[in-house]
Amino acid sequence: MESQLEMVALLLMWLVSLVSGQGAKTFDWHAAYDYPSSTPFPDSMKCWTCVDGADDNYNCNRWAPDVWCPEGTRYCHTVHHMNEVGQSIKVWKKCAAVDECSGSNVGCSNTDIPGVKKCVSCCEGHICNYDVPTNETNAVFERQTASSASYLRSTELLLVTAALFIVLRIL
Ligand SMILES: *[C@@H]1O[C@H](CO)[C@@H](O)[C@H](O)[C@H]1NC(C)=O
Repeated sequence: MESQLEMVALLLMWLVSLVSGQGAKTFDWHAAYDYPSSTPFPDSMKCWTCVDGADDNYNCNRWAPDVWCPEGTRYCHTVHHMNEVGQSIKVWKKCAAVDECSGSNVGCSNTDIPGVKKCVSCCEGHICNYDVPTNETNAVFERQTASSASYLRSTELLLVTAALFIVLRIL
């Protein structure tokens, strides 16, 4: 019985080292550093924001208020109006829910105003919308990749579940 407990302890220590090792490798230090220590709710984030529209990207970002996105809006949404030669006419940026970013809501199209083209993009995560979309390549819905925090959390959960299962089998 004693050796079994030792085995369990070793197993748990190995799992903990695995989890913490993984955490150090994929942890986004830059995002953590940018983040203030007090957030209004878990997973809260900010977007570059100019809901009334700015003349170009520089002026949108320059005057963007430093406010948290409402709960349930996990994405940043950007609309960019351009003339025929691609110069900015107007830029709007805001926090958005997933339905504003899905499917045909992003991309480039003509507007009702002759010679004015519109590109819409979305991205996932804290202040991810620094740039404006200019063509079909960047007017997309960019979601976080597998190295994101939620992926790490699900990996940890899986390992802990596996550890518990093994412990219960041994005891
Ligand atoms: C799209 O716009 C980006 C940034 O302005 C540019 O670097 C890229 O070459 C453009 N792509 C196409 C296919 O025009």
